[in-house]
Amino acid sequence: MSTIILGIESSCDDTSASIIKNDTILSNVIAGQAVHEAYGGVVPELASRAHQQNIVPVVHQALKEAGVKVEEVDAVAYTRGPGLMGSLLVGTSFAKGFALARKIPLIEVNHLQAHVLAHFLQKPDAQRPVPSFPFLCLLVSGGNSQLIVVRSPLEMEIVGQTIDDAAGEAFDKCAKVMGLPYPGGPLIDKYAWEGDAAAFQFSKPRIAGLDYSFSGLKTSFLYFLRDRLKENPDFMAERRNDLCASLQRTIVEVLMDKLIKAAKETGIKEIALAGGVSANSALRAAVQDMERRRGWRTYIPDLALTTDNAAMIAITGWFKYRKGEFSSQEAAPFARMP
Ligand code: KG4
Repeated sequence: MSTIILGIESSCDDTSASIIKNDTILSNVIAGQAVHEAYGGVVPELASRAHQQNIVPVVHQALKEAGVKVEEVDAVAYTRGPGLMGSLLVGTSFAKGFALARKIPLIEVNHLQAHVLAHFLQKPDAQRPVPSFPFLCLLVSGGNSQLIVVRSPLEMEIVGQTIDDAAGEAFDKCAKVMGLPYPGGPLIDKYAWEGDAAAFQFSKPRIAGLDYSFSGLKTSFLYFLRDRLKENPDFMAERRNDLCASLQRTIVEVLMDKLIKAAKETGIKEIALAGGVSANSALRAAVQDMERRRGWRTYIPDLALTTDNAAMIAITGWFKYRKGEFSSQEAAPFARMP
């Protein structure tokens, strides 16, 4: 029997709605918010206002593109957290209202778990291989850097995580220091293509175990640039691409070192990438290289499924639906992991 799930995602600055039929995406509509560009980062109050404007049209569009009527939806899954409280409230309230009006199950979804389960989404025209359990997932986004052992769709254990900044934050903050607009991660990736990754050395964190740290790298990058600019005011203009390539190489090396350590320690050789930073071309190449050289199986998500989207919320909802794990109308959103 097939199940149709409506997924709703509004944890940060993307309003998204998706319709899936079992594990297959029928639509995945994402409305971004250009309003934050002028501020160099997401402004929470503006984000929640934009979600409020976007949510109804985005859901309409998702239903229309999927060719699904409101009455055909079997359950609604929504991001309960973590994220920005004002943003989460918009998606949560919409999902609750929808479930109540339609008298269908309401399913709460942890946004981070959903990034991991995005690997199980299929497109109508082509089946793609999915990780087998247990697998190790490197989840890297603007707010998180985590190493997760995934034992089953709903059984995950965080074995390592950042103790300060996330990898995406390191990209974005260093980009800001270079005067690049927000979010700087994709721009660093772009400029790095033209640069020499061995041009500059930045200090790497020495953190025990499987945890990450990126705040030291950010500070060392800031001081390095400040000193070079004192010597040569045109340094940035002359060496931008080399700076981007060297910084990107350092971040990717830090991520890969712990990923390989985690694989060795857990004995798990099925490796998946997830989250916005998994769009980074150097990280993708490093993971593919690891597959070639070590013979481990790796899974890299489609670019469209790396960033925040509602299809990943819907698939997590589908796994929970099959287990009868429904949410109550009283469940309040959570900004941080409980
Ligand atoms: O998962 P995500 O879409 O949402 C948040 O966690 O907010 O991740 C966004 C992060 C941002 O920090 C952005 O700069 C980074 O992912 N990012 C990238 C690339 N594309 C997005 N970082 C490096 N290289 C990229 N190509």
